[in-house]
Amino acid sequence: MDIQELSKSTDDQVFAKTGQHLDSLQKSILESVLQHQNFQKIAVNNGYSYDHVKKEGAKLWKLLSEVFQEDIKQGNVRSILENKAGSTIYNFVNSPQINSNTISNSHVNICRENPQSLEDREKRSPSSQVQNQLPIIDLTTAPELNYNYGRNSEIYTLKEWILEDKTRLITIYGLSGIGKTALTLKLISEINTQFDYIIYRSLEHLPKLINLKDELKKFFSQSQSTPLPEVIDYFRSSRCLVILDDVQNIFKTGNLAGQYLTDYKDYCKFFQQIATLSHQSCLILISWEKPGEIETLETENKYTRTLQLQGLGEEAKDILRQKKLQDEEKWDELITLYQSHPAWLNIISSTLVEFFDGKIFLFMTDKNEVFLGDIETYLESHLERLSELEKNVISWLANQDEPIDISQKPANMEVSQAKFMHIIQSLTRRCLVEKVPRKELARFQLNSIFKAHINSDF
Ligand SMILES: Nc1ncnc2c1ncn2[C@@H]1O[C@H](COP(=O)(O)OP(=O)(O)OP(=O)(O)O)[C@@H](O)[C@H]1O
Ligand SMILES: [Mg+2]
Repeated sequence: MDIQELSKSTDDQVFAKTGQHLDSLQKSILESVLQHQNFQKIAVNNGYSYDHVKKEGAKLWKLLSEVFQEDIKQGNVRSILENKAGSTIYNFVNSPQINSNTISNSHVNICRENPQSLEDREKRSPSSQVQNQLPIIDLTTAPELNYNYGRNSEIYTLKEWILEDKTRLITIYGLSGIGKTALTLKLISEINTQFDYIIYRSLEHLPKLINLKDELKKFFSQSQSTPLPEVIDYFRSSRCLVILDDVQNIFKTGNLAGQYLTDYKDYCKFFQQIATLSHQSCLILISWEKPGEIETLETENKYTRTLQLQGLGEEAKDILRQKKLQDEEKWDELITLYQSHPAWLNIISSTLVEFFDGKIFLFMTDKNEVFLGDIETYLESHLERLSELEKNVISWLANQDEPIDISQKPANMEVSQAKFMHIIQSLTRRCLVEKVPRKELARFQLNSIFKAHINSDF
C-alpha cells in the first residue's frame, strides 16, 4: 500500500471513530514519518518550529493509539497501520452487508474505503444508473487553492446536512476571501464517493440560466444512454452535487442585498424548484450576499439551509506559521484584529514579511490605527455594491462607539423606522453589519475592519 493510500485509510478510520478528520499538519506529519523523515525535516518543510511539530507529533501518536487500540509511536506507526489497513480490507470482503455484485463492480474502491463509508455507499443512490462506479467529477473551472487549514466544524455541519438530512439547497455566504470556495472544495474531497456526479461552475460571467442548464444536462448525460429533459430529472435519477459559485454576480448592485438582476430572475425559480421538489441531489450556492428569497424558503422548507461563513478557528495560526511570522505571543492579537479572515491574514502577513521581516511587535505599535493596505480593495468591492440608503446608514454606523438598538433609528435620518430596519437587515445579509447578542435585546454593529476603512477616508 503506498503512503497516500495508507494515510487516507488511516484518516478514514480516525474519522469513523472521532467524527473528525486529521488536520493538514497531522496528515503531513503522518505521511512524512511514513517516508522516514525526522521531525527536524518535517518542521523545515512545513514552516513550523521543531518544538511545535514534536508536540503535534506526540498528540498524533496518542490519537492514533486510541483509535487503533495499540501503543503507536514514531518507530512502529508504519507497521501497525499497514497491518490494520490489511485487516480492514479483510473485514470488507467478509462483511455480510456487501453483496457479490458490489465486490465485483467496485473492487478497487473497496480496498480504499472503511466499512463505514462502504455502508454509506450502499445507501447511496438506490435508483442510480451509475451506482458503484466512481463519481464523475468536473472541477475544471474551480480555482486551485494551495492551503486549506481547519474548517472541521463547518465540514461536519455540511456533511450532516447533505448526507444525513438530505438537504437539497445550501447557501454558503460570507465576505470575499473568507474561504467559501476553499471550504467547499475541501468538502467535495471528503464526500465525493457519496455522489454520482459532481460539477462546479462559477456565475462570475453571468451565464444565462438556459445555457447553464444545457451545460449541466450535457455533463449528466455523458454516461447515460437516454438523455433526460430537465436538470431536475437527473437530480431525481442520480445523486448529483452541483456547486454554483460567485452567485452575487446575478444580484443587482445599488439595491438592497440579494435581489436578482432583471434577466436573471429565473434563477430564483430554479433554486426554489431544487429546494421544494423531491429528488436525491444537492445544489450548493456560494455568495457574498444571502439571496433574498432564501430566508422564506428556509422557514417553509426543511431541505433548505444556510451557512454564514466566519473566520478560521485556531488554524488561522497556520497561516502565520506558513508565512514564517515571528513573535508568536502577538499572534492572537493580530488574528483577532483581522478577524481570522484568511485572505486578510495572508495580505497582512505578506506586508509584515516585506517591511518588518515578519516581526509583529514592530507592526502592532499604534493601537488607534489599523493598517489595511491591500485589504482595502476587498472592502471597496463590497461597498461598491451598496444602495445609496445603505451607504448613508453605514457612514452613520461607522461613527457609533457602541452597538446600536435598531428599534431606534437616528433622528436625522430621513427614512421610516421600517425602512431603516430593512436597510440594517440588508447590511447583515451582506455580512457588513453583525448582530451582537445581548441579554435584553440584540444590538448591531458595523464590522470593525470596514469601520476602520470608512473612517480612514476622512
Ligand atoms: N481554510 C483555509 N486555510 C488556509 N487558507 C485559506 C483557507 N480558506 C481560505 N484561505 C485563503 O484565503 C483565500 C481566499 O479563499 P477563497 O477563495 O476560498 O475565499 P472566498 O470566500 O471564496 O472569496 P470570494 O468570495 O472572493 O471568491 C485563498 O486563496 C486561500 O489562500
Ligand atoms: Mg470564492
